[in-house]
Amino acid sequence: MRQHLSDPLRFFAAFIAHPRQVGAVLPTSRTAVRDMLDLADVPAADLVVELGAGTGVQTGEILARLRPDARLVAVEIDPKLAAGIAKRYAGDDRLEVVADTAENIDAHLGGRRADVLVSALPFTSLDGELRQRILDVLPRILGPGGVMVVIQYSPLMLGEFRRRFRSVRWRITPWNVPPAFLFACSQDDAA
Ligand SMILES: C[S@@+](CC[C@H](N)C(=O)[O-])C[C@H]1O[C@@H](n2cnc3c(N)ncnc32)[C@H](O)[C@@H]1O
Repeated sequence: MRQHLSDPLRFFAAFIAHPRQVGAVLPTSRTAVRDMLDLADVPAADLVVELGAGTGVQTGEILARLRPDARLVAVEIDPKLAAGIAKRYAGDDRLEVVADTAENIDAHLGGRRADVLVSALPFTSLDGELRQRILDVLPRILGPGGVMVVIQYSPLMLGEFRRRFRSVRWRITPWNVPPAFLFACSQDDAA
């Protein structure tokens, strides 16, 4: 995964400009990203969709795991952050960066559905109605047998995920500031 020293600074600047939208002062740690992606089978996916891509920490690790013929659609609402990701991974034809709100993701998929959905959206700090609209889109864009992995800084979203997915597993990754909750949600019956 390529790392840039300026990432934490750009991320912090985005936080200062839109604190509730960004929802964290630091990007997710590499270890937490890996722990999160280990909850899904990225190498088996034809299409991965990433929501709330930020400076691209998950994007880089997803691309490192993704097959050469697979695709990643990374969605980021902040146009400066989205442009940064597009520049950083320019030349990788598997990646499409979308500068839009996650609630519009349907419009960018052209009927395709994700095998793996990766969300770092700060659900608990978003406006309540926006949060519900995004949550309602998620089961629609996940394909059969697909898995959604989510990182959060509290367990507060567990009930919302359980209302929308048949199986919800969760764990804590301590290797992040602050320690983070990881969720893996699917429509398959729990094992
Ligand atoms: C907690 S940060 C995570 C960033 C990065 N993925 C990471 O893990 O470090 C949340 C990101 O979600 C983006 N975001 C917030 N609301 C969004 C929305 N409605 N649609 C798309 N992205 C959004 C923010 O701009 C921010 O970059």
